[in-house]
Amino acid sequence: MPAWAYVNGKFVPFEEASLPVEDRATQFGDGVYEVARIYEGVPFAFSDHVQRMQKGASIIGIPWPWEEAELQTMVDELIARNNQQDGIVYWQVSRGTAPRSHVFPPQADPNLTAYTRDYPDHAAAWEQGVKVTIERDVRWLLCHVKSVNLLGNVLAKEAAASKGGAEALLEREGYGIVEGGSSNVFIVKDGVLATPPLSELILPGITRSYVLEIAAEQGMSAAERYISREELLQADEVFFTSTGVEVMPVAAADGHTIGSGVPGPVTKQLLAAYKERVAAACSTAPR
Ligand code: PDD
Repeated sequence: MPAWAYVNGKFVPFEEASLPVEDRATQFGDGVYEVARIYEGVPFAFSDHVQRMQKGASIIGIPWPWEEAELQTMVDELIARNNQQDGIVYWQVSRGTAPRSHVFPPQADPNLTAYTRDYPDHAAAWEQGVKVTIERDVRWLLCHVKSVNLLGNVLAKEAAASKGGAEALLEREGYGIVEGGSSNVFIVKDGVLATPPLSELILPGITRSYVLEIAAEQGMSAAERYISREELLQADEVFFTSTGVEVMPVAAADGHTIGSGVPGPVTKQLLAAYKERVAAACSTAPR
């Protein structure tokens, strides 16, 4: 357990950190959150995370009183207090605390909470690839907002886990496989990458955008388009991306072996390049 958490301007012992019962994230899922990976004590792509959060808050009308530098200072202090060299930092902004009513409260200050946590090692999974399942996407229509309404994701990931899957790939009627329960999805066919386009149906993943950038730098071609279940099952390689798992190879989906059932060359190349990018960013970050 980490030593410290942050609640509305104060660092408090982790076990004492809490939100009021009428916090709107608790009652309505009325809030946004971010998860950044900490490498060598540095939160990677912090600015990208803050920008996405601010945009999400604006889409759902949550006021935004913070400068990015204030959030950076808060997260840096939290990391230092917890001596969190490696792990994740989670932070959340809810619309605030107010007597329960669905309509926005006339007066409420957003609640900002944050903490760090250790993060498990994925070396074996990167080496061997993981199994995933395909689940129906029952989520709402503003999936581009990283809101704390995660019930659709939770149910899909639980369904996958109950069948031994490390991730649930979400299939939305009329669109095919859109993303993972907590990741973005890519396929590789004949050396060409494909990933669903940015829309209200998926989270604009920060890892996704870095992977697309890296692919372009390495001269790979990549299409942003929808992917059907059949295409995914017949792909040469499938992988999913997120802050936590970085670039995760898929060995099998819904019991079908993907490619030769081991991480393919494109996935391995992108994972290695992503790790290089992380190492470069963290070694040059101011401390
Ligand atoms: N999840 N899609 C969904 C639905 C996600 O929840 C996430 C991240 C991603 C990948 O985004 P990024 O590359 O920016 O991490 C895509 C975080 C890690 C989580 O909820 O724990």
